[in-house]
Amino acid sequence: MRASTKSEIATRLGEARSRTLALIEQLDDEQLNRVYSPILSPLAWDLGHIANFEELWLVQTIGEREPLHGELGRFYDAIENPRKTRGELPILRDAELRAYMADVRERTLEVLETMELDADAEDPLLREGFVYEMLLAHELQHQETMLQLLELADGYEPPWPMGTAPVEAGGTVRIEAGTYAIGAAAEGFAYDNERPRHEVELAAFEIDRTPITNAAYIEFMEATAAEAPQYWRNDGAEWVDTAMGRRRPVARDHPVIHVSWDEADAFARWAGKRLPSEFEWEAAAEQLDAVGQVWEWTSSHFHAYDGFRAFPYREYSEVFFGDEYRVLRGGAWATHPAVARRSFRNWDLPQRRQIFSGIRCARDAS
Ligand SMILES: [Fe+2]
Repeated sequence: MRASTKSEIATRLGEARSRTLALIEQLDDEQLNRVYSPILSPLAWDLGHIANFEELWLVQTIGEREPLHGELGRFYDAIENPRKTRGELPILRDAELRAYMADVRERTLEVLETMELDADAEDPLLREGFVYEMLLAHELQHQETMLQLLELADGYEPPWPMGTAPVEAGGTVRIEAGTYAIGAAAEGFAYDNERPRHEVELAAFEIDRTPITNAAYIEFMEATAAEAPQYWRNDGAEWVDTAMGRRRPVARDHPVIHVSWDEADAFARWAGKRLPSEFEWEAAAEQLDAVGQVWEWTSSHFHAYDGFRAFPYREYSEVFFGDEYRVLRGGAWATHPAVARRSFRNWDLPQRRQIFSGIRCARDAS
């Protein structure tokens, strides 16, 4: 790999870290350690986990160096430590946490200097710089998780403009019956669950041009007594959005956000439609302005594609395959654009609403 590409990686690592630190700049240690919700980690855990994941892959695995804090890494293992337990763990906090993040980064950059990242590198972790891309994606994705928690932080002042934007609702796109290529190509960075790219037969269908708006969702709530999305309160006269401790009237022309799969599915049925499958979503995405507002629930369970191979570790995707989770596609305002590939598969439990999730409807074409 060209030297400039290495410096490019170093620059991108630096940019990702600046963004992480910008998110927490205004918070004190007490806020970083506070448990806001049993289904979300305290921010101190996320920060230590970001650094520990980096140390594990870029310093220990690739650089063959010893960890800075011995066995500490086990407290940052996301599978071993469910979110509701993370506030109680003996993790690094305060000044020690900040020093750990900086020390790991220093070592990462030292190791990067010595690495060969050619396209034909023998180690698949290094080929095309895979492990560095994985690391970058991991930190950017955790920023989104941190934003889920920051929505609970009263008085949080976003360091850059945040939130959904208005959409001009109405209209559908017809997708003809045919064979569609689904999943990520063999080259370039993608997660194991996006591969292998394969062909899928689809019947003709229609899909909404835009995600469902708050106005449409309010109509649905009034007609069915469905619960309001997370963070909405009714102040008597109107619905207000209370995320980040604000009280702002719900904007009728913005996409609805923070609804569960169960609610999304109920909405679609009420509207005489259905949720798209994840393959329909992906086939349609080329023709849709589909990314950057809300994650969109699909009707699909999270399953492996035929020919799936876990890489580089089973715990990223494989342990979540099954009928328990539903797939979301797209990417929300809180998702870094570098993460939101057309083939990217997000997943969560059908009752969850803390994620930045919305609705787009489809129906069989007549
Ligand atoms: Fe993680």
